[in-house]
Amino acid sequence: MRLPGFIVQRLRTALVHSAALAAVAATLVSAQPVSADASTPPETAAGWQVKRGEPVVWSHRGASKNAPEETTAAYQRALADGADVLEGDLAQTKDGVLVVIHDDTLARTTNAEEVFPDRAPWNVIDFTLAEIKQLDAGSWWDPAFAGQRILTLREWFQLTGGRAGLAPELKSPTLYPGMVENLVKELRAWGYTHDLKARNGAPQIWVQSFDEAALRQFHALLPKVPTLLLRSGYPFMTATDEVLTELATWTTAIAGNPVQTTASQVARVQSFGLKVVSEVEDGPSILSMIELQGYDYLFTNVPDVAKAVLDDKKPLRTTHGVVIDSVVYNPDGSDVEPGGGEYVALRNTTRRPIELNGYTLREFGNTLLRVGERAVIEPGSFYKVYVGSGTDRPDAHFNGLTAGVLANTVTDHVYLYDSRRVMEDLYSYIAS
Ligand code: G3P
Ligand code: CA
Repeated sequence: MRLPGFIVQRLRTALVHSAALAAVAATLVSAQPVSADASTPPETAAGWQVKRGEPVVWSHRGASKNAPEETTAAYQRALADGADVLEGDLAQTKDGVLVVIHDDTLARTTNAEEVFPDRAPWNVIDFTLAEIKQLDAGSWWDPAFAGQRILTLREWFQLTGGRAGLAPELKSPTLYPGMVENLVKELRAWGYTHDLKARNGAPQIWVQSFDEAALRQFHALLPKVPTLLLRSGYPFMTATDEVLTELATWTTAIAGNPVQTTASQVARVQSFGLKVVSEVEDGPSILSMIELQGYDYLFTNVPDVAKAVLDDKKPLRTTHGVVIDSVVYNPDGSDVEPGGGEYVALRNTTRRPIELNGYTLREFGNTLLRVGERAVIEPGSFYKVYVGSGTDRPDAHFNGLTAGVLANTVTDHVYLYDSRRVMEDLYSYIAS
């Protein structure tokens, strides 16, 4: 039976289309064999598989850009911001009590010079716990935190109460007799003697140090507790197989700087069974590099920003419309050239003038920069905050510092706070 012409025509067209569809389907299938299975970790150019999954967020000295470092306020803020692990540095008092403070002296982060004017250089080891407990560890950062105290290791553990991990650093163990044994005694008292998990799933206890001998001594006493061997310059990220093999026999992790590492280097170190912890980073772009390079642990002063970046959310929302546009950190001439030098440029992203009264800036090292009384930033305009000295202008304020504070090497971060001390913006740059 001869089919009418138009039926034949229709059939021919359908055949052509299905053949075309089949061809497209075939190319699609062929183009995606590798990436079709999301569980296959992506590979680096060098053929290393990059670890997937969010890095665990360590809060450096607590949320130490929103409260005075290593105080109850900084640790409670870090917990509220979703930090997985709280980091802190250990020192030891004259009467042998472990306390949480970064420096070997009380001078920078307490009012020791005021309370004990004749006890320079205010080394922690020269004061009893009772004396240290008289000190205000908050006002140096901001009078709003007056009354914060230096914490003992026990108080720090109590404050966290197993909700998050703890990463004590044996900061200067050679200064403090029996510090390692003291820490072991405390950990035993808390049952933190092996690779426990905190209630948030993070490692409950992680001991770190730049002092390899002290960390090896600690490991010998509590071999099941994870440790992190710190070393300036991050040499282990490119160490030989022999060095990494030996390290993996006694320590759990090493540190790397995401600005200098590659995903291949991270994966290679992990292939020796070592975890990789990042340098302390706060800038959203560098925080994202840490995740994409496959780091196990992300170290930051701003856990709220890190968590937002890991959740692909916008980290900080300026509520008033003023942002940090750029940082001139290494101008020609001196960084504090009178009437010039290094500065932070703020930008008004709105159509209305904004009062900057009470706004402040900080940089990674905690230097506070004022933005100027009665300062106003015009709509859509810049306002420059200079570090050095000079005569204020309607669009510029000079802080009168005698030395530059904005790093000229590696990376630096600048944080903008409004008059209610709320962080409005943060800006990171890679200097070298
Ligand atoms: O733990 C690594 C990091 O904390 C080292 O720097 O000086 O803050 O103790 P620092
Ligand atoms: Ca530390």
